[in-house]
Amino acid sequence: MTVTAGAPARTAYRLTVNGAPVEVVAPGTRRLLDVLRRDLGLTGTKEGCGEGECGACSVLLDGVLVDSCLVPLCQADGHSVRTVEALGRAAPGREPTADDLDPLQGAFLEAGAVQCGMCIPGMVLAGHAFLDGGAAPTDAAIREAIAGNLCRCTGYTKIIDAIASAAGGGLITRAHGGLPAGDDLLAGGRPAAWPPLRPREPVEVASLEPEAARAHSLDEALGLVADGWRPIAGGTDLMVALATGALRPGERFVDLDGIGALRGIHCDGDTLVVGALATYTHLRRSPVVAAALPVLAEVAASVGAAQVQNRGTVGGNIANASPAGDLLPVVLATDAQLVARSVRGERTLPAAAFFTGYRRTALAADELLVAVRFPLPAGREVRYRKVGTRRAQAISKVVLAVSWRRADASGAWSDVRVAYGSVAPVPIRAPRAEAVLEGAVPSPDLAGRAAAAAEADVRPIDDVRSTAEYRRAVSGRILRRIVLDAIER
Ligand SMILES: Cc1cc2nc3c(=O)[nH]c(=O)nc-3n(C[C@H](O)[C@H](O)[C@H](O)COP(=O)(O)OP(=O)(O)OC[C@H]3O[C@@H](n4cnc5c(N)ncnc54)[C@H](O)[C@@H]3O)c2cc1C
Ligand code: FES
Ligand code: FES
Repeated sequence: MTVTAGAPARTAYRLTVNGAPVEVVAPGTRRLLDVLRRDLGLTGTKEGCGEGECGACSVLLDGVLVDSCLVPLCQADGHSVRTVEALGRAAPGREPTADDLDPLQGAFLEAGAVQCGMCIPGMVLAGHAFLDGGAAPTDAAIREAIAGNLCRCTGYTKIIDAIASAAGGGLITRAHGGLPAGDDLLAGGRPAAWPPLRPREPVEVASLEPEAARAHSLDEALGLVADGWRPIAGGTDLMVALATGALRPGERFVDLDGIGALRGIHCDGDTLVVGALATYTHLRRSPVVAAALPVLAEVAASVGAAQVQNRGTVGGNIANASPAGDLLPVVLATDAQLVARSVRGERTLPAAAFFTGYRRTALAADELLVAVRFPLPAGREVRYRKVGTRRAQAISKVVLAVSWRRADASGAWSDVRVAYGSVAPVPIRAPRAEAVLEGAVPSPDLAGRAAAAAEADVRPIDDVRSTAEYRRAVSGRILRRIVLDAIER
């Protein structure tokens, strides 16, 4: 089926939706959410916030949980999408009954977890992604898996019960053998429970849907960037900017998602090299990261929730240069090197020279960030702390990374680096605190003096997330905690 949407339509994108091949002719930055709801009539996928915060629009993209409001159509090209309509089966020609429900849907009903139709479709898909992942269904693991899906009536207990019951009771495997893979669904004809794909009238939202070109190689991407096309990686920042009208008119995008070479994570001698397109989920799952620099996995686990971690990239976080970006203090504290490439060649920039102002970097207009090189000096320790409003989906009020080495048997610290985010227009080092800690043996007294010095180092402001006074006090307190923890180890 071919659907033409938006004006002017530019490119034909081919994807599989619930097992059916679909061609959508539309601008590449059209939100997958709009393709599903408006162009294909699959209204089971809901729109809540439109900014990646609520999870109502959750779908599975190649089996991975994503917020469809953050996925540009071009990044679904060639991929398989499963929506809530793919769940459950009924015999052809009759209305579905409770017996036809997908087992997890059944578990939601049995547990009394369905209070409204807005958040539950996304919640069920988050539950499926969790169950398909095969993790042990502990309370904590289920809570983390659905942390990106808000239930405003706060019925979480029953939702967690439903997912646990579906896992523990073997419901998922007993009835249908789990969520069917996209292609299998077509084998016996379309289950009658699915609504038909109903193309609607083309929606005139072209002004919000700039052009996007998919790059299939780094050279192709560099050529387009040199011509003024703006890179889009995971889209978790850019799609929000698009939705809120915060982009410059006339901008065109080059999609980096297809450049697999930029996703790699490996060690090169005593350096950990992380490709710019590595996602937070890659960092969390990488055995190389776990062995070489585990703090990166810790940071990744604190960014957003599953949907954002599955899409958001290391390069996007660093190039975006938000002072609240979680990786930025780690990049500073570990003295990382940022590798930039353009059609003119490659250069390496020290982290200390990279962040030049509020959301500004030393990258030239025609440069892409292609990798981050983290040096791995022997005996170095790195600690990280983030303070936000809640555990998941919280942009930091203060974020801190500290690195040091034990200078000798006395336990004194050397090469101390203390770096903060969210306390100045750019991520900053804390020179006074570093001077207090350098060469000293950690003690409660030292922890207190370092904290006082850090409070003098930071330059926080009042904003919607916090007051300057609170940020200053917390900056000192979390550094004190890191030093005290190091003594107790
Ligand atoms: C609900 C939600 C929660 C979030 N929570 C957090 C959080 O807790 N902590 C946090 O730090 N961030 C958070 N973010 C922000 C965002 O997810 C991250 O900053 C993410 O890493 C951005 O990466 P991306 O690939 O999605 O970037 P994109 O949106 O694709 O791009 C961001 C910017 O970087 C540029 N860019 C991307 N890749 C490159 C490259 N290789 N070279 C040059 N320029 C490039 C783009 O042109 C754009 O200007 C959150 C976002 C959402 C929607
Ligand atoms: S609509 Fe809220 S996350 Fe997409
Ligand atoms: S079930 Fe929808 S708000 Fe709680």
